[in-house]
Amino acid sequence: MSVIEIINKLYNTSTATREELNYLLDNLTKKDKEYLIEKSHEIALNNYGNNVYIRGLIEFTNYCIRDCKYCGIRKSNNKADRYRLSIEQILECAELGDKLGYKTFVLQGGEDPYFTDEIMVEIIKKIKGKYPYNAITLSLGERSYESYERMFKAGADRYLLRHETASKELYESLHPNSSFENRRKCLENLKKIGYQIGAGFMVGLPKQTNNDLVNDLLYLKELNPHMCGIGPFIPHKDTPLYNENCGTLEKTITMLALVRLMLPKVLLPATTALGSIDPLGREKGLKAGGNVVMPNLSPTNVREKYSLYDGKICTGDEAAECRACIEKRINKAGFKLNISRGDSLVLSEEEINNINKNIKIEKIIKENLDNISLVKKG
Ligand code: 5AD
Ligand code: FES
Repeated sequence: MSVIEIINKLYNTSTATREELNYLLDNLTKKDKEYLIEKSHEIALNNYGNNVYIRGLIEFTNYCIRDCKYCGIRKSNNKADRYRLSIEQILECAELGDKLGYKTFVLQGGEDPYFTDEIMVEIIKKIKGKYPYNAITLSLGERSYESYERMFKAGADRYLLRHETASKELYESLHPNSSFENRRKCLENLKKIGYQIGAGFMVGLPKQTNNDLVNDLLYLKELNPHMCGIGPFIPHKDTPLYNENCGTLEKTITMLALVRLMLPKVLLPATTALGSIDPLGREKGLKAGGNVVMPNLSPTNVREKYSLYDGKICTGDEAAECRACIEKRINKAGFKLNISRGDSLVLSEEEINNINKNIKIEKIIKENLDNISLVKKG
């Protein structure tokens, strides 16, 4: 089969064999790439229209007990200026986010034992109590089944845990004292509990081959996550990989397009890392099948401290500026900002109906509670 035939097969059936994917990645010409992007854009349009969903990102702690070799907030980086937001500060971010029209808050942090299940449950309940119609996405790394379950029961809706790479050897070389199997188990657990899950990987990791990227595609196909975050690897000056090359825009775009073809209904962010290696990286990501952006809601005085890689964009911008900027960029690229919760179409119709039913019930409860407190005050 030629590369074009493989792209057509992906377009028509969302599948390809390992051999076909390897052949495609090894032989893709510039012209093939254009065709691939055209097709992936078409699939995104067929499923989500030209909507781009936005999520407000709250980076609430950069403490981390892990030592991922690529990451600027790894435990061994003693140059990292560590911070934790207080519960009040997190709630302030959510309040600002709600005012700016965000219907999803993403709480992201390093693996920080300070944020115990009790504290996380308190934060989730407080946010949900105030904004019951908004979705909460967590991104706190690996935790136990029980921990994930407690946070889900407290009201968390979604969980992002990139698998980082689906090749065991590469995974283990980048993650000291970590288990490749446990990472996958965590994703399975999250799915079983009922979260909408987000997996994902980096492109251009040192020593990563096309075959490793094919492993990522095949693993994603099998896992069938609701979301998938893909970004280029970018070296951070205070990590062991400081001297390595960045992942390229081209390869990252190719991988985004392939994921869109293989998982037509997945939510696919045009990531900040992609915007950091090219001034129009996010726009190019959207044109290759992406349909989510995640502007920052964290207080500006901590932005620079959440430094996973060098050259991260938007570290100096106020949340409102980021929100306005991203809307302008989305429109200019020919897309429409969609401010709904943007639940994944990987969910069944019944699951989506249930979510909407629950939101309606929560709305009624909240209105009644607000009325009672008004009567009490009066
Ligand atoms: N370059 C690009 N992406 C990175 N991440 C962490 N460090 C880097 C880096 N140096 C990504 C990881 C992680 C996500 C939050 O950020 O994939 O899961
Ligand atoms: Fe943050 Fe443009 S999205 S300034």
